[in-house]
Amino acid sequence: MSVNVLVGIQWGDEGKGKIIDVLTSGAEMVVRFQGGNNAGHTVENGDEKHVLHLVPSGILRPGVPCVIGNGVVVDPIELKKEMELLRDRGVDISSIQVSSRCHLIMPWHKLLDAFNESTAAKGKKIGTTLRGIGPSYTHKIARTGIRGGEILNKEAFKQRFMEQGEAYNKLYVPAGATALDLEAAWKDIEPALDFVKPYIQDTVVTINEAAQAGKKVLLEGAQGMFLDIDHGTYPFVTSSNTTTGGACTGTGLSPRSVTRVWGVIKAYTTRVGEGPFPTELFDDMGEHLRTKGGEFGATTGRPRRCGWFDAVACRYSCMVNGVDYLAVTKLDVLDGLDTVKMCVGYKINGEIVRNFPAEACSFAELEPVYEDLPGWKESTENARSFDELPVNAQKYLERMAKEVNAKIGIISVGPKRDQTFALISDCLG
Ligand code: IMP
Repeated sequence: MSVNVLVGIQWGDEGKGKIIDVLTSGAEMVVRFQGGNNAGHTVENGDEKHVLHLVPSGILRPGVPCVIGNGVVVDPIELKKEMELLRDRGVDISSIQVSSRCHLIMPWHKLLDAFNESTAAKGKKIGTTLRGIGPSYTHKIARTGIRGGEILNKEAFKQRFMEQGEAYNKLYVPAGATALDLEAAWKDIEPALDFVKPYIQDTVVTINEAAQAGKKVLLEGAQGMFLDIDHGTYPFVTSSNTTTGGACTGTGLSPRSVTRVWGVIKAYTTRVGEGPFPTELFDDMGEHLRTKGGEFGATTGRPRRCGWFDAVACRYSCMVNGVDYLAVTKLDVLDGLDTVKMCVGYKINGEIVRNFPAEACSFAELEPVYEDLPGWKESTENARSFDELPVNAQKYLERMAKEVNAKIGIISVGPKRDQTFALISDCLG
């Protein structure tokens, strides 16, 4: 079997789309397993740039089945828009499958997301993408959500839609949430349901059959470890399991089928939205990383918070995810610096801590312990092997791998497909 899981090791935006695109040259099925259109996976294909939100990044490789698994929350209106955009750009979308067990994002979920954020007390706002992700997962767990398979029976769907929409209006509008015009909302969503219907399948079966037939299956994570609902910086997280475990629950593959875990890791750190970020920089260096790295959200356009590489957080993340290989991205952004700092410990109330704290309150007291590593003046953008990298860049990467207990498998030195090289021969082995 060849089932590779690819997850983000930090707070998302590690460059997963690009690495998945590179890995999909050998993949025979690509599956999204959690999250929704809060994700923004950027793939540059020749002169074309695609930002994928729901459709797996394998879509740009013709003939590769692309599956939206049961762990994903799907906004039918947004999925239709994304698929139509791809089709209009000449991409073959016929290989897309949408799980009958995925949960749908309904119009009231988006209104609830906005309502929850706007009424949150000071310091409690999460800074969500306002795509209705949290409210849709909330209804999934409350066992009141609407699933993809229900699209197959439009009459029954419409009845559920009206009932649930009315319940929203009754419960939340008196509290100040925006009222939903149900007939107008139905008119908006109906064409999207018709569009998505032919793609609905029991994907648990198709994914398992592909894996058992020895096909190379790639499970594509969205967001990153510290946005995981269990393992992230709760409550400043997303509402799904972004870690390797989520790849099994979100696809119906057993943990025994996973053969390799890839952790995508940026050479420094970024975060969008609120919440703890131990190595965040508020000075010119933070601005330098944001500008040079083009650190603006692919989904919301928000400027990303930037900081030095945090080895404490990443070691913890690699442990939870069981990372075999790292795909290091954006190394080129660190080119030209005299010194590159790496956080190797946290000082909390005078004590050095080497594990990532569980409680958000511990972060208020936390002071990162940095080690200064020599930078490199040369550009890495044209390097196509480890040996072609400046010696200090090599040393930086070796130190990173040692700190986080994983091997480096891929290095990316720019946004283009060819600005990537592998250090191992069979990436999907
Ligand atoms: P939600 O997923 O829209 O509920 O947002 C929850 C938190 O996760 C917010 O801090 C978002 O900024 C963050 N987030 C959600 N999706 C992404 C992503 O794809 N990349 C980075 N951050 C994300």
